[in-house]
Amino acid sequence: MRFPLAKALRGGLAMAAAAAVLPLAAPTPAAADGIVVGGTPVNVADSPWVVALSSRDRFGGTRAGQFCGGVVVGRSTVLTAAHCMSEEVLGGPASRMDDLKVIAGRSDLGDAKNGREIPVRRVSINPGHNSVTNAGDAAVLTLATPLPQSYVIPMARQGDRAYAPETRATVYGWGDTTGAGQYSRTLRAAQIRVLPDALCRKAYPGTSEGTYVAASMLCAGERAGGRDACQGDSGGPLVARGRLVGLVSWGSGCGWAGSPGVYTRVSAVIRPLGLGR
Ligand code: ARG
Repeated sequence: MRFPLAKALRGGLAMAAAAAVLPLAAPTPAAADGIVVGGTPVNVADSPWVVALSSRDRFGGTRAGQFCGGVVVGRSTVLTAAHCMSEEVLGGPASRMDDLKVIAGRSDLGDAKNGREIPVRRVSINPGHNSVTNAGDAAVLTLATPLPQSYVIPMARQGDRAYAPETRATVYGWGDTTGAGQYSRTLRAAQIRVLPDALCRKAYPGTSEGTYVAASMLCAGERAGGRDACQGDSGGPLVARGRLVGLVSWGSGCGWAGSPGVYTRVSAVIRPLGLGR
């Protein structure tokens, strides 16, 4: 994640710098209307486990302070990306963010009367997170008040068929819909597929963005490009067969053919995060 979405959200200057870092001049996204690039609007009522992470102090109030996604895996437990909780993104230790909130049940970030904002009581970052390769990109947020059980999505364990290449999957978020810094006010989703590890090994043998490590990452997208997660979607869910298989983590550009999205493999972080029953 050389380049967390959140970094881009930090402000105009950082955003411009970020854009310069992204090889935007090279290939253009195959479709520029997405989530998530190439996505469509969805109602959070149909996917109540998708939540937005917010800090108005740090990211401003225009989009309710949204800077990453998350997913409800227990009534008081939200999974997100470790890099969303990094000092680089937050400007200091997560433990010192006193307005860190999870926004649940709200599709339109501008619609303050809908859904609820729940303070985060505790942040626990995967001790195995490697910020060079991006391996183990996961963190657990403990909510100050529990959500209804109906918000919870089951996590796919190791060996689940949902991880099989070519399985259809859906990624959700409020991130950049163009690859050029156009953050969405409303929740979107894109239909993609789990792709063979070989495709991501080839795309990411050890680039400045990261290194694809199959044991802890999941490759997903479309071979032709076009549909993908993008900056601002990090930490949000990739769902297949009704189960959580991945968290948006990193990738080169957004929606480019030959540069699939890389997701945190959920089955690999359940135990390190202490989430196994
Ligand atoms: N690192 C980005 C974030 O912080 C996520 C990028 C995902 N990119 C992709 N092409 N799938 O939001």
